Amino acid sequence: MKKITISPGGSLKGSVALPGDKSISHRSLLFNALASGPAKISGLLNSEDVEATRRAVEALGAKVARDGRDLVVHPPKDGLKEPEDVIDCGNSGTTIRLLTGALASQPFFSVLTGDSSLRRRPMKRVVDPLRRMGAVLDGRMHGDRPPLSVRGQELRMTHHDLKIASAQVKTALLLAGLSSGVAVREPRQSRDHTERLLMQMGCTLRKDAEDWLVLLPARELEPCDIKVPRDISAAAFFIVAANLVEGSEIFLENVGINPTRTGVLDALTAMGADVQIFPKKQTGPEPMADILARHSPLVGTTIEGSLAVRSLDELPIIAIAAAFAEGETHIRDAAELRVKESDRIGRVCDGLRAMGIYVDEREDGMSITGGVPLGGAEVNASGDHRIAMAFAVAGLCVRNGVTIDGANSISSSYPLFFAHLEALQQ
Ligand code: S3P
Repeated sequence: MKKITISPGGSLKGSVALPGDKSISHRSLLFNALASGPAKISGLLNSEDVEATRRAVEALGAKVARDGRDLVVHPPKDGLKEPEDVIDCGNSGTTIRLLTGALASQPFFSVLTGDSSLRRRPMKRVVDPLRRMGAVLDGRMHGDRPPLSVRGQELRMTHHDLKIASAQVKTALLLAGLSSGVAVREPRQSRDHTERLLMQMGCTLRKDAEDWLVLLPARELEPCDIKVPRDISAAAFFIVAANLVEGSEIFLENVGINPTRTGVLDALTAMGADVQIFPKKQTGPEPMADILARHSPLVGTTIEGSLAVRSLDELPIIAIAAAFAEGETHIRDAAELRVKESDRIGRVCDGLRAMGIYVDEREDGMSITGGVPLGGAEVNASGDHRIAMAFAVAGLCVRNGVTIDGANSISSSYPLFFAHLEALQQ
């Protein structure tokens, strides 16, 4: 496990080319592997998680070829093929859950597994509703833990009234329902990249008056060239770093600002952060903007309800911002954080306490009393990229810095994170 100490290194200035959005990258590869012809993808995230999806679609018969700086996905001629071996989804929950849905209706057998963290994550959330559609799935703990086996079947149109807002679950069900049709209702709107892309690929998908998202059976998916926006979840680390470190001013271009993902910008704005958004003319299904972030004093805020869903992956870095803000910050309705790559509520609270910050930990969130963190802390990232990056940002602002155990996990989503941080410190 790699240990790294991040200490204050002066203000952050300038610009870096952020990586492509992780959610959209997975979908670009997988959906186009299911399409009726080749499609070009530019700006795909180059990271371990997306590499797992790329390897998976190749194991299923698709070819992913380089074309200059872009990639071209060539789906197999007569649909996906039975893989010769177990598919390893690595650390990527998105890969395993989306694939489980997509493979449930394919006429062959497949087995999906992952690393030790992924093999501890709950799969019943996709397995149970898929079984209701007629899917034949199994796995450890009655199908709740990988490895998962999928014996593909013809599925039936089913209504799913979900108890949790999860884009991974929603997407798995929509992919499973491509030929049968399916209807899904979420308690709160999760990210909608799947809906936007499926519509762009010719699917008929609409929300009815009672909030049911209804997908009609599709004969085929039309291939779709995609320009992947830069990842707002990656941007969040540098935006908060710029807000916290005196004298900073950074400019981030072409960041995805899909409203189901911009909770972090709303939360930081409510905290008094100087974050300016310059929307671009929209050319594809996803809106983008340039973002200017500057140093600014922060105050506490409350994040709950739909704001918690819209800022889900960013809550660890928002918690770091809260640790340096004046007053209290309350994070609620975020129990899902406990079943991410690590128990993110537990790991954030441990790390903040190690830095001398008072935190009240609850099942679905935490309250943080901001102040002057002590620093000199050592934090275990528990194999979780976002915990590692969040505490790296904290290290920029405290005397003696923060030592992160397990910083290598950052390559799941942002292999160039430290290189970009250094570039901004020049
Ligand atoms: C993702 C959805 C979110 C998010 C994950 C990526 C996706 O998970 O935490 O990093 O690409 O669909 P859930 O919506 O399942 O909570």
